[in-house]
Amino acid sequence: MREAAARDEPAILAFMRGLHETEQDGEPATDRALLRLLDRSEIFIAEDASGPVGMLAVEILDPPEDLGRRPYACLMALAVSPARRGAGVGSRLVERMRAFLRRAGIARVDLYVRASNAQALAFYRKQGFCVETLAMRAQV
Ligand SMILES: CC(C)(COP(=O)(O)OP(=O)(O)OC[C@H]1O[C@@H](n2cnc3c(N)ncnc32)[C@H](O)[C@@H]1OP(=O)(O)O)[C@@H](O)C(=O)NCCC(=O)NCCS
Repeated sequence: MREAAARDEPAILAFMRGLHETEQDGEPATDRALLRLLDRSEIFIAEDASGPVGMLAVEILDPPEDLGRRPYACLMALAVSPARRGAGVGSRLVERMRAFLRRAGIARVDLYVRASNAQALAFYRKQGFCVETLAMRAQV
């Protein structure tokens, strides 16, 4: 488990493309647009002898002071290679994120996930996340 480096860009892009397909119904997106989503994120990579097998990106957000809200974090992306799922890689990435946020003095982390992504929902619940708001959508 380590911080991402410039050489990880192709792997990060592959993870982001996979996530984009499951989370955004495969709406078209350029490589640049996918990477730009993580411009302000801290990125962690899990790897084994074969190379990267998982990634997590987290961004610290600093709301305007007059909103009366403390800085908090948003988990922007989390993905594990399909062949390596269910082996604790995702849990270790989340633990690394928590250690990073604790050191940064951040007490809260939010994330957005498709309601249909049962695997991720089960995973996040196990990690202590609970549903606090619901996003609703209709076709216009
Ligand atoms: C969600 C994801 C990151 C989990 O990573 P992982 O390395 O497979 O997770 P772990 O092995 O650390 O699993 C920890 C726990 O989560 C739960 N979990 C993980 N996968 C699960 C599944 N398919 N069904 C039910 N529970 C699951 C289990 O409770 C598991 O604990 P256990 O092994 O003691 O049963 C991974 O499945 C993934 O990359 N999914 C596709 C991308 C994605 O949907 N990302 C989130 C979108 S925001």
